[in-house]
Amino acid sequence: MISEFRPGEPWPDTDGIPVNAHGGGFLHHEDVWYWYGEFKTAGTEGNVAQVGISCYSSRDLYNWKNCGIALPVSEEPGAPLERGCIMERPKVLFNEQTRKFVMWLHLERKGQGYSSAEVAVAVGDTPTGPFHFHRAFRPNGQMSRDMTLFKDEQGVAWQLRSSEENATLHIARLTEDYLDCGPDYVRAFEDGWLEAPAIIHHEGWYHLVGSYCTGWRPNACRHAVARSVEGPWKELINPCVGPHNGLTFHSQSTFLLNPPGSNQVIYVGDRWNPEDAVSGTYVWLPIRLSPDGAEMRWFDRWRLEQSPV
Ligand code: GAL
Repeated sequence: MISEFRPGEPWPDTDGIPVNAHGGGFLHHEDVWYWYGEFKTAGTEGNVAQVGISCYSSRDLYNWKNCGIALPVSEEPGAPLERGCIMERPKVLFNEQTRKFVMWLHLERKGQGYSSAEVAVAVGDTPTGPFHFHRAFRPNGQMSRDMTLFKDEQGVAWQLRSSEENATLHIARLTEDYLDCGPDYVRAFEDGWLEAPAIIHHEGWYHLVGSYCTGWRPNACRHAVARSVEGPWKELINPCVGPHNGLTFHSQSTFLLNPPGSNQVIYVGDRWNPEDAVSGTYVWLPIRLSPDGAEMRWFDRWRLEQSPV
């Protein structure tokens, strides 16, 4: 049993095999946490999708069971999810009206580098899938690379995407079935080059963390606050404090988690390894959020129960 977080270290699942779920998205459903991520393979080519999107489940956020591949690549030549495409940053929401689990991810078509800048949407009947491919497209006809989803307490959901060649973040309200974006979207952080967005609602404020655009190389963490998802967003200073704070402790954001019944927010980031994609690790750290500025410090080891923040 695992009973503490060890940021940046390989994280064994309940079979003792390192969790393989990069660029992760998290869903809390009926007291179980689900972790969806990019299933990477070895070597420099390991960031290209050979397998698909993995899924793990946990009740305590420490011990994760491998639930297999939730959305596999396609074997069909020319299919949007054809093996060899790029599938990144999957995020899943449960739709209360349709009772479906809806996954969005960043899709780049096979052999086209990062030029297609699309999303793929897939739908499942259970949180572990299998998810079935629904559609690949540019939401609102706009480029969409790093992305996340956010659902509020009323069930209204948004897609946040690095758009316009990553220069500007778009925030688009989803349709009621979560399968598409509605007609309108907001442009935020205009020419701000913000990517790796993660968002949470905490004590009356929306908090967004993200990064600058330096590919797999880490840079300084960014933090912004707003009173509504669609902004206006006010960017504050880098929340990281201490050595390597300018590199977000060698990580890039992908999610903000709030365990139920706790006031603690967890920053979830990736420590990418482009030389051997599968051996990238995860950096989970406590982050103290306030509308005046956030604070995140490094810990080699930490536990939720004895939260250092
Ligand atoms: C990063 C992005 C990653 C991945 C990478 C490719 O900026 O956050 O998700 O797309 O670029 O270089």
